[in-house]
Amino acid sequence: MGESLLTAGRRAEGQEGDASARQAALFADAGLERRADGSLLLGRVPLEDIAQAAGTPAYVYNAGAVRARFAALAHALTPLDHRICYAVKANGSLAILRVLRDLGAGADIVSVGELRRVLAAGFSPEKVVFSGVGKTRDELAEACAAGIGQINLESLEELETLARVAQLQEARIRVGIRVNPDVTLNTHPYLTTGTAAAKFGIPADLVLDTAHRVAAHPRLELTGLAMHLGSQLLDTAPYLRGATRLVELVLQVRAGGISTLRALDIGGGLGIRYKDEEPLDPERLAATIRPLVSGLGLALHLEPGRYLVGSAGVLLATVLYRKHAGGKDFVVVDAGMNDLVRPSHYNAHHEVVVLRDQRRQVQQVDVVGPICETGDFLALERPLPAVEPGERVAILCAGAYGFVMGSTYNARPRPPEVVVDEARWAIARPREGLEDLMHGEQVTPLADAP
Ligand SMILES: Cc1ncc(COP(=O)(O)O)c(C=O)c1O
Repeated sequence: MGESLLTAGRRAEGQEGDASARQAALFADAGLERRADGSLLLGRVPLEDIAQAAGTPAYVYNAGAVRARFAALAHALTPLDHRICYAVKANGSLAILRVLRDLGAGADIVSVGELRRVLAAGFSPEKVVFSGVGKTRDELAEACAAGIGQINLESLEELETLARVAQLQEARIRVGIRVNPDVTLNTHPYLTTGTAAAKFGIPADLVLDTAHRVAAHPRLELTGLAMHLGSQLLDTAPYLRGATRLVELVLQVRAGGISTLRALDIGGGLGIRYKDEEPLDPERLAATIRPLVSGLGLALHLEPGRYLVGSAGVLLATVLYRKHAGGKDFVVVDAGMNDLVRPSHYNAHHEVVVLRDQRRQVQQVDVVGPICETGDFLALERPLPAVEPGERVAILCAGAYGFVMGSTYNARPRPPEVVVDEARWAIARPREGLEDLMHGEQVTPLADAP
């Protein structure tokens, strides 16, 4: 027998209830608020006002939400001697870096470009750690000359390059070893970095030898062991396994006569809510790690990126067209995979909401961009109110790995970045112009090969 109308109605109500509870949680994470008149505010600024002034597509970040995340993590870690080194790769906006610097954060960088950014934002070089599997000699030289806190080695070959840099600069350099702890994860394969087959870090069985080589060099000092397991982790179990491995290695290194270690770095990776996930609770993480590290006499370093900024950002877009084809409804918007590549690249889920809620009928649609790729989508088969061309939408949880992973593919200038903070807002980075796309290019006659 089919379900009664009453049961179906209750089920639909239940689903609606679930969806609105889900949305309420996402809104709370971001600092979004739906007013009774249907308008949507971020950090108490109406997003329509920003879209009017800055145009779309546009990234908007809520500084208040970043501060709230930092405070929650700092609170959880507080009994421990700790440092939160923000992973700049997640969002390198100078305005966001300023917010984090003012909170006393350190920074985790992976290129000299990021080094210049953190220095421009006023971070103390001592609080900067440099990770990355392919640091060039020039990058290492610039980082060492800037006096950064620690270079995290990812291979023995890199150690040779670093040793040459140290010799040339006649400087003393603090070195960490990024350990590959071989921990498998339940996340997207592209977001897994700490398994044996990954290109990252030095395998655990080579760490002791590497430590001795560093310690034997007159200009290098081994100050830390580090790991980064991967990204969007929702469970503390991998941290427990990885940190246990790190602590074993600390004991081995010390037993080998090296007594210069100062910090243990457990990387970033703290997962956030994109849909209905239970985000990783910093209190739970701290409770997991604390028994392992207290008594070791080492500071605990973390390198979160997504956790601090992911929920705090939205991408605004305008509906260009509605289209029905192949039995599907498409909403074509002016933001594409060049602006936010996560849906295409990781099949990532980002909620899409209207900037002005008019309580319209909900339809199942694909939200797609203007790029000439079938993979150019922001949301597939998603319930969305029946929007009309000219209306605006916000793509949520776009604060991490959004703008920074963007490109100018299809010759599309990069969108602006806007920061809101307690009812005030400013354009932190203007929209690129079409002229920027050809900046420095010349059509020169080709020379003959010698
Ligand atoms: C070395 C390192 N640290 C920290 C992070 C930040 O990760 P998440 O944004 O997931 O916290 C990454 C991300 O790839 C990384 O490679």
